[in-house]
Amino acid sequence: MREDQIKVMIDQETLENKIAELGAIISRDYEGKEIVLICILKGGAMFMMQLAKSITVPVTMDFMVLSSYGNELISSGEVKIKKDLDDSIEGKHVLIVEDIVDTGRTLSFLSTYLVKKGAASVQICTMLDKPARRVVPVDVKYSGFEIADEFVLGYGLDYAQKYRNLPYIAYVEQEE
Ligand code: IMP
Ligand code: MG
Repeated sequence: MREDQIKVMIDQETLENKIAELGAIISRDYEGKEIVLICILKGGAMFMMQLAKSITVPVTMDFMVLSSYGNELISSGEVKIKKDLDDSIEGKHVLIVEDIVDTGRTLSFLSTYLVKKGAASVQICTMLDKPARRVVPVDVKYSGFEIADEFVLGYGLDYAQKYRNLPYIAYVEQEE
């Protein structure tokens, strides 16, 4: 992949306006409650930090690492926990914050896991959703943008671990 193949799909302003909207909706939905934001590292990090700034109810944060794509463009299909929660979520309202829902395997696995850990509620907030790629159904409560079945990077999302720092969502223009 060459640098000049990287094209803007969702610019920073559009993205961050949408994230602020999501934060406002979440703040309203959880009024009078406290939320445990669970970030799925590393992809969800930039989105969660931006989202958290526009949430007005009290939040705590925890971070998990799950196995995912490795350095490839296709999913292995198996999910493993590489880093678990630091604190108990028993009786807590949990919001999973993810960069993108693709096959749905990661979130299907994680939602079940967090319910088993005794959370009072478990909901999902994703920055991007690729519904055409779904293999396992997942109930996504908050979603920023639905996108076509296309590989994307930036704003936390990587290509071989790079480009997570792009302040926008990009796609890779295919060569003729
Ligand atoms: P799922 O379990 O197939 O839904 O996989 C979700 C994970 O795959 C996401 O958290 C991302 O880390 C990764 N992923 C899926 N699609 C893309 C993409 O277009 N670009 C970069 N990473 C992706
Ligand atoms: Mg991810």
